[in-house]
Amino acid sequence: MDKSRARLTREGIRLYNPSDFEGMHKSGRLAAEILDRIAPLVVPGVLTADLDKAIEDMVNEAGAKSATIGYKGYKHASCISINHVVCHGIPSDKRLKDGDILNIDVTVIVDGWYGDTSRMYVAGKLSRKAERLIQVTHDALMKGIEAVKPGNTFGDVGHAIQTYVEAQRMTIVRDFCGHGLGLVFHAPPNVLHYGRAGTGSTFEEGMFFTIEPMVNLGRPETKVLADDWTAVTRDKSLSAQFEHSIGVTPDGCEIFTLSPTGKFHPTY
Ligand code: MF3
Ligand code: CO
Ligand code: CO
Repeated sequence: MDKSRARLTREGIRLYNPSDFEGMHKSGRLAAEILDRIAPLVVPGVLTADLDKAIEDMVNEAGAKSATIGYKGYKHASCISINHVVCHGIPSDKRLKDGDILNIDVTVIVDGWYGDTSRMYVAGKLSRKAERLIQVTHDALMKGIEAVKPGNTFGDVGHAIQTYVEAQRMTIVRDFCGHGLGLVFHAPPNVLHYGRAGTGSTFEEGMFFTIEPMVNLGRPETKVLADDWTAVTRDKSLSAQFEHSIGVTPDGCEIFTLSPTGKFHPTY
């Protein structure tokens, strides 16, 4: 890819070409397949490091690369965020307990293209309140995605997500956002999951980015632990997140990271 010929908006957002969608399909599909295939391994008693090892093996078997290994010193093929961990949980020798809910976030590189996606899982039995949090978070992501089409703005997405989440008496995390991606992992713009309709950059065909809302049952504030990665809710309330990588098309958008088997929820 010739960077000097990349088209950029005034805000520095890269506009990819129609032929670039194919690269994102491949990386997005692999990341989604890995999330499908890890599901049966999420059971009480398993170490999160074992889940990460299985993910790393799947990335390697596919002939792809993990985008997170070596990224800013991060050493793992996934982030695994349990219960009140909001994001960037580090795989470890911690064992999953019955009823734990967790987000698994995987980013792979296929032929230079980045596919970034995350989903929620449960070890054992899903409680009613966790199920509701997970459902609202997934619905919030999909409502955000529905607002993506040329002419609408990034603020329309943030507004759709925030108003929906707050109407359910849950809160949207402000401290982390989605991001442009494509031939790089993190690029402009910052994709906020809150905001006012009509604000921010206007969507144009060929923009590639993630939407990855984090929703809390309690207050929205987070803090990062001493390991410099793990972000948790300050009030220790339960948190959930889903993430898709998407591309803007002439009349809407395409989701690159949809599950090939239609999976998206811990119980179906
Ligand atoms: N996949 C995460 C995201 O959605 C980034 C993880 S970076 C890591 O942007 F280093 F923590 F893995
Ligand atoms: Co992301
Ligand atoms: Co991610």
